[in-house]
Amino acid sequence: EIIDGEGKVVMPSFIDMHVHLREPGQTEKEDLITGEKAALKGGFTHVCAMANTNPVCDNEKTIEYILNKHKENEICNLTQISALTKRLKGEEFVNIDEMREYTNLFSDDGLNVDDIELFKEALELSKEKDFKILTHCEPEAETIKRDLKLLTDVGGNLHICHISLRKSLDLIKEYKDKGLDFSCEVTPHHLFEWNNEYRVNPPFGTKDDRDAMIEGIKEGIIDAIATDHAPHTKKDKENGSPGISGIEEAFSYVYTVFKEEGISLNCLSDKMSYAPSKLLGLDEALIEEGKDANLVLVDLNESHKINTSNFVSKGKNTPFEGRQVYGKILITIKNGEIAYKNEERKNDNR
Ligand code: DOR
Ligand code: ZN
Ligand code: ZN
Repeated sequence: EIIDGEGKVVMPSFIDMHVHLREPGQTEKEDLITGEKAALKGGFTHVCAMANTNPVCDNEKTIEYILNKHKENEICNLTQISALTKRLKGEEFVNIDEMREYTNLFSDDGLNVDDIELFKEALELSKEKDFKILTHCEPEAETIKRDLKLLTDVGGNLHICHISLRKSLDLIKEYKDKGLDFSCEVTPHHLFEWNNEYRVNPPFGTKDDRDAMIEGIKEGIIDAIATDHAPHTKKDKENGSPGISGIEEAFSYVYTVFKEEGISLNCLSDKMSYAPSKLLGLDEALIEEGKDANLVLVDLNESHKINTSNFVSKGKNTPFEGRQVYGKILITIKNGEIAYKNEERKNDNR
């Protein structure tokens, strides 16, 4: 098939290190099919799904179930994350050797944050068994400080999820300046918004916190952008569940902000494609000659209003309904084939 891309831009497709696909157990919020379709629509060809499913993904049976179900359709490429502790409770480590067969990512959700010995052991294990710990240190910047001190002493493979505060950025900068090797991510919504009460974890910061995130991107302190796509039902949102369904419009939020802030498209490509591919160890495969391409075709001149009735995700939860953004994903190519094509007519969405 010949694609007419005149006036459009071709980029590497995006890789999302942090999504919630809710399978098994919460398929009223999302499932693998809708979540993976939403990812493709957002220009992502690889997502990493968090372990806070029901049952928690901390055992062979559950991860097998997820990966088998995923393989039935294989809409988007998937890395399933394992919880690091059983039932996310911070009591006992999962059988890491068993789970390591399926994944190289372990989330510290629920790891008892007061238990420094437990975290130390986790860092040691991450070196020994060659996996990455995805840590949820915020909202306490103090926890980041403690964790980075410990990382300095012990070593290990650490990635800090969704930072949102200037305090956190300052600490991260301090330790990166000292030469400590670790990475961190920010979400599109924490770049796009501030001073908003909408429930999300971590909460939206102040304007100054948000400006710190922009500086962190510009100065190369923040490694990657990851959506933390967190779909919920209307009822669950009314009952206070935190989170934003964000993967479909992630590129537009980021591009809109980058355009306003004068940050280049190359930088966007680094934060949304190349950096995550390196952090996940996918970059070797990506640059290997003869491999099928993963690409997006985007229209940078397009502008539209966020409209949740177009979402393919089951989660319509967002504080951004009606907001004007720039940039649209027209086509997503996964493993050399067109996996998503935008079919909306030009003026549908103005
Ligand atoms: O807002 C959030 N929602 N942040 C998280 O870290 C978890 C997520 C969820 O699972 O809904
Ligand atoms: Zn989180
Ligand atoms: Zn999350």
